[in-house]
Amino acid sequence: MPLELVVGWVDFCGRRIAVHSGVFVPRRRSEFLASTAVALAQRTALCPVIVDLCCGSGAIAKVIKLTIKNAEVYAADIDARSVRSARQNLGQDAEVFEGDLFDDLPSKLLHRVDLIVANAPYVPTDALEFLPADARLYEPRVALDGGPDGSDLHRRIAAECHEWLSPDGVIVIETSHAQATGTVEVFRENGLFAVWGTDANTDATIVSCQRISEPAEERRH
Ligand SMILES: C[S@@+](CC[C@H](N)C(=O)[O-])C[C@H]1O[C@@H](n2cnc3c(N)ncnc32)[C@H](O)[C@@H]1O
Repeated sequence: MPLELVVGWVDFCGRRIAVHSGVFVPRRRSEFLASTAVALAQRTALCPVIVDLCCGSGAIAKVIKLTIKNAEVYAADIDARSVRSARQNLGQDAEVFEGDLFDDLPSKLLHRVDLIVANAPYVPTDALEFLPADARLYEPRVALDGGPDGSDLHRRIAAECHEWLSPDGVIVIETSHAQATGTVEVFRENGLFAVWGTDANTDATIVSCQRISEPAEERRH
């Protein structure tokens, strides 16, 4: 059993996040995703609108809101237990929606989101059986299974993000080192500029993406 489930919490970016049975335990490597999200959000807007997609316990949204006090933060997850856990961790810090990716986000967010941060499942289905026992036995498949090549959710996020992002909106998403170029390709195929980066200390890999902006002249029409 993961130690975090025994003690009931995990230290994530220096914050204490409650963890609940059947909900993905935030990983040390995802601190790279969270800190990059904070840095990008601080660059994009004074009061950034941020969505933590596939939020699990809400750890990433929590760190963002505690760091950027004037951010407007939303979170979503398809799994009811994760949504309960995120609501408990986030309280008044964010609104949490239960639904498939963007499906249940409020329409007031259309074309307003400055930053989407996502740690969506990315383990290829055939690799699930080789995960460490604590993940295999204690975390739900919906939190891990990324489909045949691990990119099913990434493809959907890349296709569906356009109607939510603001004109200069950015996405930052976790992937694996082995899948990094594939993840970049998925976002490029969907009209985004995408680059990947790694953090050697935590063996973390992320992809950062930005919509290729229309020239200002076209935006006015
Ligand atoms: C790898 S976990 C990450 C959780 C959290 N973001 C973190 O880093 O600790 C992936 C999460 O995605 C959620 N998920 C899977 N498929 C989803 C979908 N189609 N729409 C929304 N959430 C989904 C799972 O329930 C799970 O909580």
